[in-house]
Amino acid sequence: MALESVHPVTLPPASPEGRRRHTLPASEFRCLTPNDAVCVFEIEREAFVSVSGACPLALDEIRHFLTLCPELSLGWFEQGRLVAFVIGSLWDQDRLTQESLTLHRPAGSTAHVHVLAVHRTFRQQGKGPVLLWRYLQYLRGLATVRRALLMCEDALVPFYEKCGFRVLGACTVTVGALAFTELQCSLRAHAYQRRNSGC
Ligand SMILES: CC(C)(COP(=O)(O)OP(=O)(O)OC[C@H]1O[C@@H](n2cnc3c(N)ncnc32)[C@H](O)[C@@H]1OP(=O)(O)O)[C@@H](O)C(=O)NCCC(=O)NCCS
Repeated sequence: MALESVHPVTLPPASPEGRRRHTLPASEFRCLTPNDAVCVFEIEREAFVSVSGACPLALDEIRHFLTLCPELSLGWFEQGRLVAFVIGSLWDQDRLTQESLTLHRPAGSTAHVHVLAVHRTFRQQGKGPVLLWRYLQYLRGLATVRRALLMCEDALVPFYEKCGFRVLGACTVTVGALAFTELQCSLRAHAYQRRNSGC
C-alpha cells in the first residue's frame, strides 16, 4: 500500500494559466525512493560514524532496501530537504538475527526498523518521536504487519520506550564491539482495544 492512501498527499493546484506552482511544501512526509539514498546516507554518516564508527546501513544497503521495500520507509522533508527518515524491511522470525540486518523477507509480519535518524541541525526539536509515531501509524494501516522490532544501544532504550516500544532483552546481533537491546512495539493493540471498547 502506498503511503498516500493513509496520509493523502495533496498536489499543488495548477495556476489559472495552467502552469504548475514551483513552491516546495513546507513539510511533507513520504516514502523514500532509491533517489533519496545519498541524502539518507549523508544524515546517517554524520549521525553514526563520529559516534560509533559505523552506520547501521551502508549506502548500497540503503539503495537495496529502498529498491526492495520503499513502502517500509518514511522521510520527512522540509522545503524539499530531507530532515529525518526511517528505513525498515520485513522480517519473519520472532527475534532479530545477523541475517535480519541485510534481508527483506516479504512474507514476514514484522517490520524491522533498521534506522531512524534526524539531521543534526533538526535534532532536539521533537522530530524523532513525531516521525516514529507517524511511521508506526502508517504501519498500522498495512494489513500484514503485526509489530515493529528494532535493536538499539542501551542509552536509547528510554527513548524507544517513550515511543511505545517494550524491551524484549539482549539482542543476539553484535556489530564489532557494539551490543544491543531488542525492543518491540505491537501494532495490533489499538485495533483490538477499539473493537473491544464499545466505541
Ligand atoms: C535519537 C534521535 C532519532 C532522536 O530524535 P530527536 O528529534 O533529536 O529527539 P528529541 O530531541 O525529541 O529527543 C527525544 C528524547 O530522546 C532523547 N535522546 C535523543 N538522542 C539521544 C541519544 N543519542 N541517547 C539517548 N537519548 C537521546 C532526548 O534526550 C529526549 O529525551 P526526553 O524526552 O527525556 O527529553 C536523534 O537524536 C538522532 O537522529 N540521533 C542520531 C541517530 C541515532 O542515534 N538514531 C537512533 C538509533 S537507530
